[in-house]
Amino acid sequence: MHPDLTERILQHLETADQVDTLDLAAKFAVDHQKIVGALKSIQAHGELVNAEVATHKSLGLTDEGRSVVEHGSHEALVYAAVPEEGIAQAALMTAGGPNAKVGFSKAMSQGWILVDKTVTPPLVRRKVEKITDSVKEQLKQVAAGKGDALPSKDVTDFKKRKLLQETTTKSFVLSRGPEFATTLTKLETDLTVEMLSSGLWEQLKFKSYNFDALGAPPSRGHLHPLLKVRTEFRQIFLEMGFSEMPTNNYVESSFWNFDALFQPQQHPARDAHDTFFVNHPAKSHKFPQEYLERVKKVHSVGGYGSKGYGYDWKVEEAQKNLLRTHTTAVSARMLYKLANQEGGFKPAKYFSIDKVFRNETLDATHLAEFHQVEGVIADVGLTLGDLIGTLYEFFRKLGITQLEFKPAYNPYTEPSMEIFCYHPGLGKWIEVGNSGVFRPEMLLPMGLPENVNVIAWGLSLERPTMIKYGINNIRDLVGPKVDLKMVEEGPICRLDHV
Ligand code: PHE
Repeated sequence: MHPDLTERILQHLETADQVDTLDLAAKFAVDHQKIVGALKSIQAHGELVNAEVATHKSLGLTDEGRSVVEHGSHEALVYAAVPEEGIAQAALMTAGGPNAKVGFSKAMSQGWILVDKTVTPPLVRRKVEKITDSVKEQLKQVAAGKGDALPSKDVTDFKKRKLLQETTTKSFVLSRGPEFATTLTKLETDLTVEMLSSGLWEQLKFKSYNFDALGAPPSRGHLHPLLKVRTEFRQIFLEMGFSEMPTNNYVESSFWNFDALFQPQQHPARDAHDTFFVNHPAKSHKFPQEYLERVKKVHSVGGYGSKGYGYDWKVEEAQKNLLRTHTTAVSARMLYKLANQEGGFKPAKYFSIDKVFRNETLDATHLAEFHQVEGVIADVGLTLGDLIGTLYEFFRKLGITQLEFKPAYNPYTEPSMEIFCYHPGLGKWIEVGNSGVFRPEMLLPMGLPENVNVIAWGLSLERPTMIKYGINNIRDLVGPKVDLKMVEEGPICRLDHV
């Protein structure tokens, strides 16, 4: 705003009793909006001026009206396009300009042209020697600001023809108010202790609150994409009748993480290169003793029709604490419970979604900690067919319909299958998970009935999240380099629950 526009307005009012802001805009040669802005700041200082709203209606040309002023009315253009010897109506429609259709009927009703049907095809001919384009003349007057002189009948007609339009302008009629002054005193924005104690506050003017100002948005929490996708997975499991396993123990014993899963104690995954072992406390000591003995036996000498691994199983190795490397450790605990619950075994469907830890070489798609999504079903007589059918159903709910399975190996499942799906967005087959039928060497020592089978599968939560949110580097999703904007502005997650 012009710095002293407010004072110019006030000075003007010192001599003039009344002035319209539109006239001020013309007088000062500034935009009317600026005058109105200056008026608002004058009003913020008190009742220096009275301002009354005034509305002004004015006639203005539309774009079409302006073109008539420039080139002539549609009917005059049509008339001009009719040559001495006449013209076919179709040809006239192109020769008569873009509004020839309107122009033709107007020129006909004006009696300027006629259609001569004595010849074939009929020709349009001039009916009069000369015309006056009064539409153009009248619109010219409007353009010159003399629209008021137009007969109202014509104004109505031109408005209907969309050559003229009425515009309403709002302005303010100003006059001196009860607190009139020619200068503005600076308004105080803060009431201070000094003003109060000295009594100065009584003489000062304070700026009033602007309740229309856009406030600063209050800060709030935001869910990380992983949490949003986790909620969706949880929803799918719940819809399929699964119940959630308690996963609130990152620290696990080697016994539940490996031994219970028939993973031999020399297995390379049990090396510190792959697994984070815990120093304090380094060992766990409470295990179901009889079960532990059965686990020891199946590893060392076999049983239940299995030869076992034939090595010297050591409880010291099973006692070692670690950060769980998979949520299947939790599934093992749950299955043991299921086998030993009061009333005996009952069919069950369990799921979990939580963090696991591995001593990985970090790269764009691997971190030392990630989340696993795991599903487990225990029932009598389950087969590989049940596993495949369940996987199709589970992934269908994620919007994935094309699956392929590849034979794989896990110490605790036989058969085992890697799961691949065709990702239409990425246009290729990608590995999405691992699955299998738990081995008798794992289930029978737990005490599960012989005719009970357990099928299970697992996948990472990070992978579908990265695909869903278009994130290529896992470090952009998790860890110290994450841009909080990504979290704050990340859209909600919708998986197709079908
Ligand atoms: N525990 C396996 C993994 O960490 C996943 C899995 C779960 C495989 C259940 C088979 C059955 O990759």
